[in-house]
Amino acid sequence: MYQSKVIGLGKYVPERVVTNDELTNYMETSDEWIRERTGIEERHWVEEGDGNTTAVMGAKAARQALERAGLQPSDIDFIVFATLSPDYYFPGSGVLLQDILDMPTIGALDVRNQCSGFVYATAVADQFIKTGMYKNVLVVGSEIQSTGLDLSTRGRGVSVIFGDGAGAMVLTRTEEKNKGFLAHSLHSQGKYADQLIVKYPSSAFPTQRYFEHLKENPDDTSHFPYMNGNFVFKHAVVRFMEAIMEVLQKAGVSKQEIDLLIPHQANLRISQFVQKQLGLKDEQIMNNIQKYGNTTAASIPIALTEAWEQGKIKEGDLILQAAFGSGFTWGANLLRW
Ligand code: ACO
Repeated sequence: MYQSKVIGLGKYVPERVVTNDELTNYMETSDEWIRERTGIEERHWVEEGDGNTTAVMGAKAARQALERAGLQPSDIDFIVFATLSPDYYFPGSGVLLQDILDMPTIGALDVRNQCSGFVYATAVADQFIKTGMYKNVLVVGSEIQSTGLDLSTRGRGVSVIFGDGAGAMVLTRTEEKNKGFLAHSLHSQGKYADQLIVKYPSSAFPTQRYFEHLKENPDDTSHFPYMNGNFVFKHAVVRFMEAIMEVLQKAGVSKQEIDLLIPHQANLRISQFVQKQLGLKDEQIMNNIQKYGNTTAASIPIALTEAWEQGKIKEGDLILQAAFGSGFTWGANLLRW
């Protein structure tokens, strides 16, 4: 059995910066409320004509990760692309990235696991490498949330938290022991699917019928993200901890051995709660939600890339990725750098 280790990281966020103050032009909210409840100060959103799509942004992050890995697109054997905001209903964004990067006709798999998408995608990529099926796998998380948000006061509980961006990671096979990904934890609870959801239009309520329905019910907001914020928050803090303790136990290491936690950037208060539970110092947790908001499947690879760029990661460090989100789905990956 092989191990898989990280050899390249990259990130991309659109140029347009949207401050909390700018949001007050569209809805009743305030910089103070957003900072206090979420920690977010600004986020990046795509803008008309900037050429960005979910796949395009993923490709920009991937190019940087490949360059840092010293690899060409043709060296990659497989793509795993995590997103909840694909370019199209179908096909997935992974195949579009394969085309943009002019890669050979390798396999491309989209992972639709929302905020825990990158944790799931990492675990999937690691299995392909561990079994020897592939040598180099590109794992991407990319999201464009801004184009699907309700920017009126009605949608403020959700819209102020989301940002756009992409992150990418190149994994490669290694025979070094106790290196690379040591354990994963993946969970779901579909019972709570409707607590954080974009419901319609869908196969259950097709577009044409939904448009007709909207004429009769113009206030229906089922096509915008709905989140029962408090309910999600309460589950998130419990599940984050469970997933983290599970991977530590699987790998036979203690929480005192964690060097760096990369939590999904959902809410600064959730991350601070987890930090306290684990007894981590400020420098042992990566928080960048202040600058980017919640970029769902892209938040972990963006945070991991930034931690690496800032010199916070060194050889032999024990690094944890953990996430919770819509589904509900949650999980964690434990990595020895
Ligand atoms: N500006 C001003 N006031 C607001 C805003 C806003 N943007 N949004 C809501 N409010 C108001 C509400 O209307 C409510 O007013 P009321 O008391 O008069 O009714 C009040 O503020 C409190 O609202 P809550 O929803 O209870 O606020 P809460 O403290 O729960 O914060 C938040 C909301 C930030 C969304 C929080 O619940 C949260 O972070 N939840 C978890 C998010 C998460 O982890 N999501 C998972 C990942 S996302 C994914 O998977 C796609």
